[in-house]
This record gives sequence, C-alpha cells and structure tokens, in this order.
Amino acid sequence: MKNSMEIKFKAIPENEAFARNVVASFILPLNPSISELEDIKTAVNEAVTNVVVHAYPDKVGYVEMKIQTSGNVVEISISDNGIGIEDIERAITPFYTSKPDEERSGMGFTVMESFMDKFEVKNNKTGVTVYMNKMLEDAVVGMYANKRANI
Ligand SMILES: Nc1ncnc2c1ncn2[C@@H]1O[C@H](COP(=O)(O)OP(=O)(O)O)[C@@H](O)[C@H]1O
Ligand SMILES: [Mg+2]
Repeated sequence: MKNSMEIKFKAIPENEAFARNVVASFILPLNPSISELEDIKTAVNEAVTNVVVHAYPDKVGYVEMKIQTSGNVVEISISDNGIGIEDIERAITPFYTSKPDEERSGMGFTVMESFMDKFEVKNNKTGVTVYMNKMLEDAVVGMYANKRANI
C-alpha cells in the first residue's frame, strides 16, 4: 500500500520541531521501532535546520517536504529555493561547515547519511533537495487494506 503527503512551510526555527513531528505522525501507522523513528526524526531535523540556517541568507523562504511510503520503505525529500551548494562533495565531508564562527558542527549531512539507508543531496534548479530513504524492519504493511478486505 502506497501513501504520500507533501507540505510547504516557512524556513524558520519554530518549524523544525513541526517538520520532524509531521514525519513521525505520518509514518506511525507503519509501526516503526522507537530507534527507527528517532533516526528519521533526527535526519529530518538536520535537513530542515540546514534550510533554516543556510539556504536563505537574505530572506525568509520556504521548505517543501514530501513523504512517500511504499511497503516498508519511507522516502523523504526536503527542498528549498535558496542559494544552493557550490561544492556538494565538500559540503557532505564530516566536520565541514561554511559557518564555523556560529558553532555549527558540520555534521548535519553526516548524520543524515549514517541514520538513513539512502541519502543524496542535489542542487535542483533553484536550490537544494535532500533525498532520504529508510527501510522499516517490522513495518505493518497493508494493515488498512487487510482490514477493508475483512469487512
Ligand atoms: N539547504 C542548503 N542550502 C545551502 N547550503 C547548504 C544547505 N544545506 C547545507 N548547506 C551547506 O553545507 C554545509 C554542511 O552542512 P552540514 O553538514 O549540515 O553542516 P552545518 O549545518 O553544521 O554547517 C553547510 O555549512 C552549508 O554551507
Ligand atoms: Mg547542518
């Protein structure tokens, strides 16, 4: 059973918790483990924080988040229309940050990569998109489909 949703929200710190909780709520019916849920929430938080901190130096822009579930796979994309990333190889290097004076750790992309099963970051036509997948070990697949079939 496939399911999907997309939302667009302002790239402000207040929406970081909102974004990770939306993802958690959306995938909860699949019965993720606590640690899978934490991994996904942490990765989403890092991606959204990056948009808030880096994408729009001179204005408040938007974050677009899409989630798709298919079987036991959760696919998430997080996009912005900001300044983009000049050198992606460098950006994903552990401890690299373009803002060392603001106490950034430079570990956001490293966290996303290690907590998720698939991770990719690309410049899109107008900014950056991060793609992440997570496989849920014991996902409840097709629970609602089965329920309907039993009626
Ligand atoms: N959405 C984005 N738009 C523009 N630049 C970004 C974006 N996300 C990340 N970056 C760049 O990639 C670098 C590395 O990101 P990250 O690993 O999360 O470290 P940190 O956020 O601590 O600097 C950032 O310092 C920034 O230069
Ligand atoms: Mg970061």
